[in-house]
Amino acid sequence: MLHAPIRIALRALSTFYTPQKPLTFSGPDAARKLADLMVVNGQRRPLIVTDSFLLQNGMLDDLITFLKGRSCHVTTFDGIIPNPTFAVVEAGLKASLDNKCDAVFAVGGGSAIDAAKVIAAASTSRKSVKKLTGTLKVDAPLLPFYVVPTTSGTGSEVTNAAVISDTETHKKKFFVDPKYIPIAAAFDTGLLKSLPAPMTAANGMDALTHAIEAYTSRNRFDDTDRDAAMAIKLLFEYLPIAYENGHDEHAREMVALASFLAGFSFTKASLGYVHAISH
Ligand SMILES: [Fe+2]
Repeated sequence: MLHAPIRIALRALSTFYTPQKPLTFSGPDAARKLADLMVVNGQRRPLIVTDSFLLQNGMLDDLITFLKGRSCHVTTFDGIIPNPTFAVVEAGLKASLDNKCDAVFAVGGGSAIDAAKVIAAASTSRKSVKKLTGTLKVDAPLLPFYVVPTTSGTGSEVTNAAVISDTETHKKKFFVDPKYIPIAAAFDTGLLKSLPAPMTAANGMDALTHAIEAYTSRNRFDDTDRDAAMAIKLLFEYLPIAYENGHDEHAREMVALASFLAGFSFTKASLGYVHAISH
């Protein structure tokens, strides 16, 4: 059980820095709708942050063609690896600054979204990437930040945090600030259905754990209880279907929404022992 001062501090953080939910799009054209929102919002020089697998397998072709058709100058940074390091973030930051990018568009799993958050923050900050480590360290609004999650579990598309691995200390460094919450997220079923069954299951169990830990948290709120309960019900109903038939777009969409709701719930209500042990 948490000590009282930590519990009070958590409560204050959730109350005075209430996380805002990003706008969401879902369905087969969701990534395109999100790109359209970005263009209408006035950004024309997006940095797409992704991994080489997605890029080389042509899974971003539609999106890039669409953006170029809307007169965008597109820069792609495909250096994302699992558990991204400070060197990965620095390389992405260089791509952003060299190309004068005016938005960051993350496409990928939690690693891509986490790295993109810090790239978007460092692009506008006077601080170094290392100095952004910690809680409430972001000193300027991020570059407009949009996300297309291709996995359903981490909840990074809605959370206020990013995790970057420090290869010098062999520790995972946390970046926590409400400014890391994206403007909008797209659950694109065309991209989500590419996730293999074992990863669908593992990510889905992560989302389920987020929802249960938020629901049973002593730092609960009425809206986190509501969203966590909804996430649990959606996962019980649709995760087995998404696992059995990855091409079931309706099930993929529902699992993605469950992950989103679970991510919102734990951002505000916090997590429990399962995640404490895993760290
Ligand atoms: Fe998790």
